[in-house]
Amino acid sequence: MKIIHLSAECYPIAKVGGLADVVGALPKYQNNSDISSQVIMPFYDIKFTKENTFSSVFEAVLTLGEKTYKYRILTLKSKSLDFDIFFVDVPDLIFKEYVYSFDDTERFLAFQIAALDWMLTWEKLPGIIHCHDHHTGLVPFMLQESFKYKAFRKTPNILTIHNAQYQGWFSHDKVNLIPAFNFNNVGLLDWGGTINPLAAAIKCAWRVTTVSPSYMEEMKVSANGLESLLSSESDKCVGILNGIDWKVWNPETDNYIEKTYNEKTIVSGKKANKKQLCDTFNLDINKPLFAFIGRLVGEKGSDLFPEAFKVALQNPNISILLLGSGNKETEEQLETLKKDFGGQYNAFIGYDEKLSHIIYAGADFLLMPSRVEPCGLNQMYALRYGTIPIVRSIGGLKDTVTDISEENGFGICHDNVTVSEITDAIERGASLYENQTKFKKIRTQIMKIDHSWDASAKQYINLYKSIN
Ligand code: ADP
Ligand code: GLC
Repeated sequence: MKIIHLSAECYPIAKVGGLADVVGALPKYQNNSDISSQVIMPFYDIKFTKENTFSSVFEAVLTLGEKTYKYRILTLKSKSLDFDIFFVDVPDLIFKEYVYSFDDTERFLAFQIAALDWMLTWEKLPGIIHCHDHHTGLVPFMLQESFKYKAFRKTPNILTIHNAQYQGWFSHDKVNLIPAFNFNNVGLLDWGGTINPLAAAIKCAWRVTTVSPSYMEEMKVSANGLESLLSSESDKCVGILNGIDWKVWNPETDNYIEKTYNEKTIVSGKKANKKQLCDTFNLDINKPLFAFIGRLVGEKGSDLFPEAFKVALQNPNISILLLGSGNKETEEQLETLKKDFGGQYNAFIGYDEKLSHIIYAGADFLLMPSRVEPCGLNQMYALRYGTIPIVRSIGGLKDTVTDISEENGFGICHDNVTVSEITDAIERGASLYENQTKFKKIRTQIMKIDHSWDASAKQYINLYKSIN
């Protein structure tokens, strides 16, 4: 069976967040003797290296409303990839820079149309078309409704919701950009008076998944306006917890970190990595190091950090290090804080893949006070690197972290996203650190937790088989 993943991001080619990590890993773990799993994504202005060569496999013209655009499908031949990736290159539309922006409607529609047009030319249609997030949300609608794509009516398709906050809304005056369909069914595209690609996909996809069981339940109560739709479609919805790619996230083989380690060498390994991190960021290796890595957006609770850090850092025996970018005001506040707490606090405002590995390896605790967290990969990377997660119990965080007060618990959990709950959780971490025997036992215990993709990839395959 051939599985085609359609996605806006895929690691290591283009990554903003966890969507890329998932689409860059899942196909690897699905590929086996009877399954071939491939990715189609937009072509960005990507810097290819000498080892990576790409070639054009198809050229044609696509129609978007009244306009036509030339496009090419490129493929990347890279020794380091375990699956095929195809790129949709529409030179006049897609995507000089890898940033989401206000004119994404045309760009993502062109991407989706080109991908489907190309697949129509294949000798054999794919076994499953697996769409990820709203960027590919019009595909299930077009497969079901557009006259042009009649040949796909029996091709099963799946939508995975990585984040229901973003839905790809656009106004009805652009509906003519979608290839012709019976206009009596335009309601399938609409949610709350606008065209809503994520809602359309929830209505039309054969199955809908999301990235943790708890988030599936939470969305019925809070999903940025889609609650009632998700409740009424719940029979075809299921939550499948993401895994992590052990080939990329493995402290025993990680080329980015100062010293590799495993459960047996964790003490010396973490110490060497913490030393490098503390030397680089002028922090004290003897104090517990609390880190954050992520997008500085409301969903992650990061707007509370400036205030929460000010309070937490009153305790002179802790250090905090942050890696992130996003909201400009938060970025500035976090920069300013350096002046008052130099030697105890530092921040790198920006995106740095290598530094993220070094922090997972060198920190003692990872903070994730998320307001919304469909799955969250950071806490699973932290566990793999023996770094204790401090999380707000929601979504995937709830499904993967158990508080130390419970039997076999290994993390620190809080219920609400407030300055006082964040600072109390940090204080609980500081107390745990004082009990070095318990702290070290937990670090070793968490490294052994298995969040590899094997189990989740199987769940997806069973789902494909149930509808193919
Ligand atoms: P989300 O997709 O909501 O941002 P996830 O926890 O699923 O959250 O995944 C975030 C991914 O992005 C992780 O791989 C994390 O390490 C990475 N990441 C986030 N911000 C940064 C940053 N500033 N620098 C490096 N990596 C980052
Ligand atoms: C989204 C979610 C995050 C999830 C990721 C991968 O970006 O915000 O929680 O881990 O997708 O599924």
